Amino acid sequence: MKTIVIAIQKGGQGKTFATCHLAQDFTEKRKLRVAVVDLDAQGDASFTLEAHDSGYAASRLFTDSADAVRAHFSARDNSGLTLIHADPALIDIEQPLTADQACDALKASMAVLGEYFDVAFIDTPPALGVRMTAAIMSANYMLSPIEMEAYSVRGMGKMFAVMNNLLERNPHLQFLGMLPNKVEARKPRHQANLASLRESYPELVMPVKVGLRDSIGDALEAGVPVWRIQKTAARDAIKEVRQFADYVFEKMEITQ
Ligand SMILES: Nc1ncnc2c1ncn2[C@@H]1O[C@H](COP(=O)(O)OP(=O)(O)OP(=O)(O)O)[C@@H](O)[C@H]1O
Ligand SMILES: [Mg+2]
Repeated sequence: MKTIVIAIQKGGQGKTFATCHLAQDFTEKRKLRVAVVDLDAQGDASFTLEAHDSGYAASRLFTDSADAVRAHFSARDNSGLTLIHADPALIDIEQPLTADQACDALKASMAVLGEYFDVAFIDTPPALGVRMTAAIMSANYMLSPIEMEAYSVRGMGKMFAVMNNLLERNPHLQFLGMLPNKVEARKPRHQANLASLRESYPELVMPVKVGLRDSIGDALEAGVPVWRIQKTAARDAIKEVRQFADYVFEKMEITQ
């Protein structure tokens, strides 16, 4: 199983949008067995992917034994898309567990999930806490959506410092890049920020982007991918999201 974490220490950048769409693309188009682990107690991915719920709460990945994880997933059909939903107990993980304990626990549980799934996506809360650290330490790949606004772009340096630190501690982790998200073609500010980001970090910015598309909000609310939205206006969004998913799929080198 390959695990990809979607993380950035800032809210509203598009982590959950990216998680839900990649997961649905990988399930439908690549025919993979996909798990989505929602580590954000806000539960946005759990809301959007509710129809795929496994009945297994994400906090249990930190507290269950390998046998308990195995007992749940061996008893069900894991084909298609499977949600491991956020629960309020995720907040409690931040206190009693040290980052190292949380990392060990999550890694052990993810290893068991690997018996049942081809790919796991981990959606994270927008702060560097025990859960984000454990997710990054348990993953093979990471990507970070980012808006082209000054506050987001300014925060990049800080994020890279933290990320470099974690990358050093997890030699299996490959950073797939930042996804410029909610980019508005008509806003010179967005275009300038995108150009300067690509110039400053050429290797770290993906060669794809996603515009600010109303149909993406429609899709996340309706619990479907944007390619199910029957509006002419959704066409651009569909094209961009598919290009993004193709790029990530290729980089992950998944052999089917
Ligand atoms: N490309 C886009 N076009 C239009 N709306 C978008 C786009 N990407 C995300 N959104 C919307 O922006 C909001 C924030 O996106 P999302 O929830 O994916 O961000 P997040 O990084 O997961 O936020 P949080 O840190 O709070 O979990 C949502 O309402 C979502 O519908
Ligand atoms: Mg989110």
